[in-house]
Amino acid sequence: MSTTEAHTDLPVFDHDFVQNLHAGFDRIRAATPVQRMVTRHGLEVWVITRYDDARAALADPRLSKKNDRMQEVIQAKLPADADRREFVDGLLEHMLNMDPPDHTRLRKLVVKAFNARRVEGMRSRIEEISAGLLDAMAEESEVDLLDAFAFPLPIQVISELLGVDESRRDDFRAWTNALVDAPDDSQQAAVAMAQYLVQLIEAKRREPADDLLTGLIEATEDEDRLSEPELISMVFLLLVAGHETTVNLIGNGVLALLRNPDQWAALVADPGLVPAAVEEMLRFDGPVMHGTFRHTAEPVEYGGVQIPAGEIVWVGLASANNDPDRFAEPGRFDITRDAHGHLAFGHGIHFCLGAQLARLEGQIAVRHLVERFPNLRAAGSLDDVQWRFSTLMHGLQSFPVRPGVR
Ligand code: HEM
Repeated sequence: MSTTEAHTDLPVFDHDFVQNLHAGFDRIRAATPVQRMVTRHGLEVWVITRYDDARAALADPRLSKKNDRMQEVIQAKLPADADRREFVDGLLEHMLNMDPPDHTRLRKLVVKAFNARRVEGMRSRIEEISAGLLDAMAEESEVDLLDAFAFPLPIQVISELLGVDESRRDDFRAWTNALVDAPDDSQQAAVAMAQYLVQLIEAKRREPADDLLTGLIEATEDEDRLSEPELISMVFLLLVAGHETTVNLIGNGVLALLRNPDQWAALVADPGLVPAAVEEMLRFDGPVMHGTFRHTAEPVEYGGVQIPAGEIVWVGLASANNDPDRFAEPGRFDITRDAHGHLAFGHGIHFCLGAQLARLEGQIAVRHLVERFPNLRAAGSLDDVQWRFSTLMHGLQSFPVRPGVR
């Protein structure tokens, strides 16, 4: 297929697309393996929708994470003075936007501090935080599951893990929301966050603690260590990734469970099914919306489609996870299926660094919910939910529920 034939003017990522994500993907996937489309920011992207292509693309070294053109387009939409822009650009120079060898070096250093032992060490705190939030929920006849539980849980966990003081946690939520959802406010939010991070790093240098930030400051590899700007952008990445993803794992997952009462009942009867259920939640309706971007460093061919060098490739994670050639009857939410191999955490060298933490949080959250509130019900219509309009994340605007205790 030639480049011209692959082109379409169909504007993806518009309001209707976000509200009907899977139907939209099914249409595109069935039509052609790789399609050229225009985002609402006016970016032309090559959309990869099939599982095999998506998995291969995520691990393809010819597809770079450095993406100056995309940054330019995004920056052009953000009115701000030059100094601020430089500052914000610095924040975005984190490892998710890098290729080897820079990526390899940073990832090695961060893994020294953010390792399995540290995550496992958080288990009892996550249990406590989750139980505390559910105690408060039990007092209400109706609550927003996101406000009462799905948001505060990961925020508190990542803040404690890093050592962010309690008085600034609300600020963090406001900043990360602005960064993910509101391009007009994102510049200011990034500046405010970075200024706070500079102070926080100074404080940890003066008074080291047993937390991840101190671990990052002290991490060394062959006498190499993170520089000050690297530390700031790394912490920025961890905070944003740690805030805005797990909330949707819980929100989208509980939605799927309540829409499928037999699956909820199966979990209530056997909480041992929770780990498998969390994998199915990630596959079925994962937190990272449409997908993730790459940039062609040289011409590539996917699904028989030639993509020239210098183009933006958009790997549709949610689409790949619902490809019927990989997962039978993908639209069926089935916590007993083998969902392994889903791409909700990506694949290859950028595979989610927080996957172990996210899984642990998700499993504790779901287990606590089914054990504590076996009669949990949606307070509104389950057919009429509203999704947040975001380029990156796939999550609900709100999720009113009745815990069923009062
Ligand atoms: C990377 C998803 C939670 C930290 C990624 C990527 C995905 C992802 C898809 C790869 C993006 C790409 O290849 O372009 C998720 C999901 C989460 C989650 C679905 C929750 C359910 C977290 C948490 C943290 C985190 C809790 C940290 C505390 C990171 C980091 C990277 C990353 C640092 C970049 C890794 C690299 O470039 O080597 N995540 N994430 N994530 N994630 Fe997560």
